Amino acid sequence: MDRNLALEFVRVTEAAALASARWMGRGDEKAADAAAVDAMRKAFDVVRMDGTVVIGEGERDEAPMLYIGEKVGDKTGDAPGLDIALDPLEGTTICATGGPGSISVIAVAEKGKFLHAPDTYMDKIACGPAARGKIDIDKSATENIKAVAQAMQKEVRDLTVVILDRPRHKELIAEARATGARIHLIGDGDVSAAVAAAWPDSGIDMLIGIGGAPEGVISAAAMQCLGGDFQGRLKFRNDEERARAKRMGLENPDKKFSCDELAGGSVMFVATGVTDGALLKGIRFLPDGKAKSHSIVMRSQTGTIRTIEAFHDLERKPAKK
Ligand code: FBP
Repeated sequence: MDRNLALEFVRVTEAAALASARWMGRGDEKAADAAAVDAMRKAFDVVRMDGTVVIGEGERDEAPMLYIGEKVGDKTGDAPGLDIALDPLEGTTICATGGPGSISVIAVAEKGKFLHAPDTYMDKIACGPAARGKIDIDKSATENIKAVAQAMQKEVRDLTVVILDRPRHKELIAEARATGARIHLIGDGDVSAAVAAAWPDSGIDMLIGIGGAPEGVISAAAMQCLGGDFQGRLKFRNDEERARAKRMGLENPDKKFSCDELAGGSVMFVATGVTDGALLKGIRFLPDGKAKSHSIVMRSQTGTIRTIEAFHDLERKPAKK
């Protein structure tokens, strides 16, 4: 994949983050999300690629833009064919309440390398490079927590495990607490949490629990770049969801998916902070119509991680005002 595309994709997540950040703390999730979607869709128009959204805002009949299957990019010339997994605003509630850690994110892969995950739930486990190959979603939370601690040469009580704070996780939280590990419950945003598990010195060592399946694919792409590990198993709420997964081409939708099966080949991961979080600072609106953004861009091919702080003159970019 052309590495020069990386900067193009940063512009895309910056645009979505700048637009949704205006809605921080305003209590309107829909408006925050719509602003991000609209800005991201427009920003894609000038990226030279023959892109297809494979993880997006939903099915064509339920999402006006950035729906699964939508073509994005400027296809002129020999534009490369790429698959895109995106979430213009990951953590809509976080943004609407002004909480920590909402981001705008896209992951990019060569054609056919992302799992075409339906909009359902996924049981997930993520860890950093030291424990790559040591986790197994078929094992209990206790076994996995111990395995990660051992691989990281830490005592279990020194390990920090992130779990989404949901009623469905009551037993999981109790089991994780019983191991003696430190538990960090989050309200939303398990992509950032998965990335943090593989990010040096983030204070997070692993993520376990059930979250969105599309977010699982995006997280797996990040783990490929960071050298961490991720496994997922789709959790269907009903038979219709399982049938939809089959229609989307999953022969065995109940299987355990490895990091490679979720996001294989050469992938890129790009994210811009919307609100302040552990990894990324949120958008700052500055005097004189300026704004500052903070992004990360990473590639699996080289493992290079770049952080980009950008100053935007919104007066000269009326679309981003
Ligand atoms: P949205 O940005 O779509 O609101 O997703 C936020 C999120 O917390 C994800 O990070 C997570 O995977 C999912 O929602 C969990 O779903 P639910 O809120 O239904 O438990």
